Amino acid sequence: MKKVSLLTLIITGVFVLSNCNPAQKVTTSAPAKLTYEANLMTVLANNCSPCHIPAKGGKKKPYDTYASVKTDIDEIIRRIELNPADKGFMPFKKTAKLSDSTILVFKQWKADGLLEK
Ligand code: HEC
Repeated sequence: MKKVSLLTLIITGVFVLSNCNPAQKVTTSAPAKLTYEANLMTVLANNCSPCHIPAKGGKKKPYDTYASVKTDIDEIIRRIELNPADKGFMPFKKTAKLSDSTILVFKQWKADGLLEK
């Protein structure tokens, strides 16, 4: 009987210790989701100004609010993915597309659920 309980103790001990392995406690945190206020606002202000930013004198559809950008996100993505020679390309009259990483900000924001903040 003594042998059995000693064996049980050892097995239990090994089991408990193996669960204490710190490597198993490392949690991989998901990358933060993009938001209009943290990620989109500056990209729009830098690339779509002045035309779409009323405060800068823009007279085109205003993209300085969360609501309007959210509503138009599909059309925005469609147009920035066109080539400069295509009709409807944005940013208007620029000779180069936005960088891939900038276009990705718009797409990732949509994929993340169009969050405001
Ligand atoms: C130099 C001025 C200018 C800049 C910069 C510019 N746009 Fe425009 N945008 C226009 C004009 C002019 C129109 C109207 C003509 C048209 O629809 O193609 C327009 C129309 C649009 C429309 C269609 C709006 C509607 O009425 O449905 C979208 C979407 C758009 N722009 C997105 C953008 C985005 C996103 C940027 C920045 C990456 C940008 N634009 C930069 C001038 C500009």
